[in-house]
Amino acid sequence: MKVLVVGSGGREHALTWAIASSPQVTELYCAPGNGGMGEIATLVDIQDSDIDRLVQFAEDKAMDLVVVGPENPLSLGLVDQLTEKGIKAFGPTQAAAQLESSKGYMKDLCADYDIPTARYKRCYDAKEAKDFLSELSAPYVIKADGLAAGKGVVIATDLAEAEGAVDEMFGGKFGDAGDQVVIEEFLQGEEASFFALLDGEHMLTLATAQDYKRVGDGDTGPNTGGMGAYSPALIMTPELCKQVEEEIIAPTVRGMAEKGAPYKGVLFAGLMITPEGPKLIEFNVRFGDPECQVLMARLESDLVPALLATVDGRLDEIDLAWSDKAALTVVMASKGYPGSYPKGTQIKSLPVDRDGELTVFHAGTTRDGGKLLATGGRVLNVTALGATIGEAQARAYAAVDEVDWPEGFCRRDIGWRAIK
Ligand code: AMP
Ligand code: GLY
Repeated sequence: MKVLVVGSGGREHALTWAIASSPQVTELYCAPGNGGMGEIATLVDIQDSDIDRLVQFAEDKAMDLVVVGPENPLSLGLVDQLTEKGIKAFGPTQAAAQLESSKGYMKDLCADYDIPTARYKRCYDAKEAKDFLSELSAPYVIKADGLAAGKGVVIATDLAEAEGAVDEMFGGKFGDAGDQVVIEEFLQGEEASFFALLDGEHMLTLATAQDYKRVGDGDTGPNTGGMGAYSPALIMTPELCKQVEEEIIAPTVRGMAEKGAPYKGVLFAGLMITPEGPKLIEFNVRFGDPECQVLMARLESDLVPALLATVDGRLDEIDLAWSDKAALTVVMASKGYPGSYPKGTQIKSLPVDRDGELTVFHAGTTRDGGKLLATGGRVLNVTALGATIGEAQARAYAAVDEVDWPEGFCRRDIGWRAIK
């Protein structure tokens, strides 16, 4: 069968890598892809937000399956348009993708279906937001409603900072994404991520993972898309997973179906494990990046039948096998990230992949003749398996030290929370 993967990050390289190993797949394309994906698939020069051209390409090539990695094309309705043309597409519809593209939509679903989450108010102007802030105590959580590339959340330590954030959001700092603002109560606890495939009716829980969001060692410095991850996440015990399935995921499946927007695709729940139990911080309508990299490293089953079953509403027929080993990935980024950084620096050498036990997934890379160049903020994901998280960590960092790229950096402590 012919498969197209849409996206160009480490997440999409990991998905492409898993899909490439399926005996069912005869032709594999990526749009636009990156320097690593080009080694295992044919790259197509179409950006992931160019919905019309993606649909045209999938139609011309008679794709059997399109797998959409990032949230942007999902919220632009790529899956709806492909489905209309009779092309199978993995990912939620535009309506269902509102679980990520509108924080207010997600919170209203929680209110309607008793899903545990932080107390909140959806605000349409600055006065309304400030009035609600005065009912809460510090720290304050202020969120732009729409997609803001992970930057639309402010945790303010005092009221003046909180009111400043409200003014900035309504003042257009995040464009249309800030037309509405959600104010929330601050939740205490440890964060964890939960992933499940949903087909509109059934759920299939995936392995657990935890990522490291801050740029600096010891969880310091600004937030990033994620500087590393490991799987399994020790905090997510089987009992806790069951509680999340019952209290958060199952009512979401039911609620979305009742709203006429049945959810199909992968649902990624960002959780706060509080003393009163797990509470939903946010939903993402896609795999986490870099969490996907460690999930794919541990997946032993063929991914393609699970993706097809998600699209077809047959997830009850699927069972996925996961390696007992731990996986850990270290993100190497361009010096300066998440601020500004130079583009086009050369990565002179990479460690060799070793029997699937060590894989370097690419994110912002491109091939220029014989050279491999860094083009993005997050550039490489050095991913290793090991008998324990500690062993996976040692292997990943040994491989990081083989990377010859003076303009890159990474955190040196990915996995510390689990290893401690
Ligand atoms: P979000 O984009 O909604 O996941 O928010 C980004 C980060 O802000 C989360 O990963 C949390 O670390 C933090 N955060 C968001 N909402 C809350 C909340 N209600 N209480 C505490 N921390 C939060
Ligand atoms: N690593 C977090 C995310 O993908 O949103």
